[in-house]
Amino acid sequence: MSASKLVRPDIEYKDSFLKALAEYHAEGRQLYNDIHRVANDFPGFINALRAERGYPHQPFQDWVEPVPETILWLVKDDEYIGTADIRHRLNWHLEKWGGNIHFAIRPSMRGKGFGKKILTKAKPFANYLGIERALITVAPDNLPAINIVEFCGATLRDKTPETDQFPSRLRYWLDCT
Ligand SMILES: CC(C)(COP(=O)(O)OP(=O)(O)OC[C@H]1O[C@@H](n2cnc3c(N)ncnc32)[C@H](O)[C@@H]1OP(=O)(O)O)[C@@H](O)C(=O)NCCC(=O)NCCS
Repeated sequence: MSASKLVRPDIEYKDSFLKALAEYHAEGRQLYNDIHRVANDFPGFINALRAERGYPHQPFQDWVEPVPETILWLVKDDEYIGTADIRHRLNWHLEKWGGNIHFAIRPSMRGKGFGKKILTKAKPFANYLGIERALITVAPDNLPAINIVEFCGATLRDKTPETDQFPSRLRYWLDCT
């Protein structure tokens, strides 16, 4: 049994990633990644993830300035466990919803401590990318995520109001130095 680690996306995790993608889809996440398209050209999918081309994805990408994004996968025992997206800088969208770091653990691997691990391990990567203080936005009812960001030492900045375009979010600052 090996320790979990954060790595760049790689074709060696194809099988477990595709299973995880189906799990994400079942809860309405990553619907922009069509499973058949991803499965049929996994090397192309990996190359696109590694291109750091930018965030946001659909449906926002047509009307928001994209920012460079580094995507990292938490893996353990050669299996995909979760994703950390590090946005190198903020745009007005990410200021309100998204922040510098987003993280997700595949549904079948939740509740085992990997959420705390992925954010802990993402901090030095963010710092390496030039981020000293990362914004993290969390839904006010997302108790596991609140638990994780506070465990990692983030401090509450404020709570944004709900608007027509954006849901309410707790905004945290996370020291990555
Ligand atoms: C949020 C998320 C990453 C948590 O992943 P996870 O692997 O289950 O997290 P952990 O196992 O490290 O658990 C984190 C903490 O939350 C706690 N927790 C879990 N469910 C909880 C709940 N319903 N209420 C309160 N605390 C809860 C856990 O007990 C744990 O705390 P502990 O170690 O003190 O017991 C996962 O649910 C996820 O991917 N959600 C979808 C994406 C998302 O919301 N990302 C956050 C964006 S900021």
